[in-house]
Amino acid sequence: MNKQLRISCSGLYRHPAVHWLMGESLHPGGLTLTRRLAEKMGLVQGNLVLDVATSRGATPGYLAGELGCRVVGIDLVTDSLARALEDSKGRHLDRAAHYVAGDAESLPIASGAVDAVICECSLSIFPDKPQAVREMARVLRPGGAIGISDVTRSVELPESLRGVISQVACLADVKRPEDYMALLSEAGLDDIRVEDHGEELKALAGAIKKKLGPLGLMMKMGAVKVPQIGLDLGSSVKDLLSEADRLIQDGGLSYCLITGQKPM
Ligand SMILES: C[S@@+](CC[C@H](N)C(=O)[O-])C[C@H]1O[C@@H](n2cnc3c(N)ncnc32)[C@H](O)[C@@H]1O
Repeated sequence: MNKQLRISCSGLYRHPAVHWLMGESLHPGGLTLTRRLAEKMGLVQGNLVLDVATSRGATPGYLAGELGCRVVGIDLVTDSLARALEDSKGRHLDRAAHYVAGDAESLPIASGAVDAVICECSLSIFPDKPQAVREMARVLRPGGAIGISDVTRSVELPESLRGVISQVACLADVKRPEDYMALLSEAGLDDIRVEDHGEELKALAGAIKKKLGPLGLMMKMGAVKVPQIGLDLGSSVKDLLSEADRLIQDGGLSYCLITGQKPM
């Protein structure tokens, strides 16, 4: 992914329209699925957790507020982090949840410093996935847990989902569950498990379709523009959404939790 597309991709996820469509938690299943991931990772009160690609800090807010973890959230986009900090101050969580600007492929964290690393709905958009997973493994202490959730595919993506708009929508480089398992294994992690949550992806796609319903006609006319990311939501975006929806309903695209552990 070139630099411009990388910025567009991050720009997309900080756009207010995306938060309106998806809610504060930018992944299928919302904080309910975050709770399931935390359970599978065995997170407990007092754990120091790194949330890679935290966006506006919905996950650190949950882990600090509900589980009593200490959390550091990292993201490329500083205005999302400013929002996250504001929110954690408002909820009196700012002693437990901290935010740092940084790149997943070069984490500004010391080796072996954290008990757990979480990364939701983001690994699929990092250009160098092996490097990002190696970084997550590096900052984990021996015996620490890693928990990733992401869109997965069980079929080859059609040509229509491999183009430029699809890259901006972060769909073009979606992997199979076994590819993610291999990435964790190559980074030296073990006890790697996958849990499928395709139903949550279907539910999110349904909710987005419902919200976008009234925009359909405007999209057909190519009249909807997203200025901050320079996207013109014309018919190509509409086609891409219907193609992605068809694959989600058929099970060709799903959403998985992938967990592993750093050996002692
Ligand atoms: C789909 S959102 C997921 C946000 C959050 N993890 C959640 O589930 O609510 C993807 C996030 O990844 C961030 N991001 C993209 N590339 C990144 C990178 N190389 N390093 C850190 N963050 C990145 C974007 O800015 C965006 O906030």
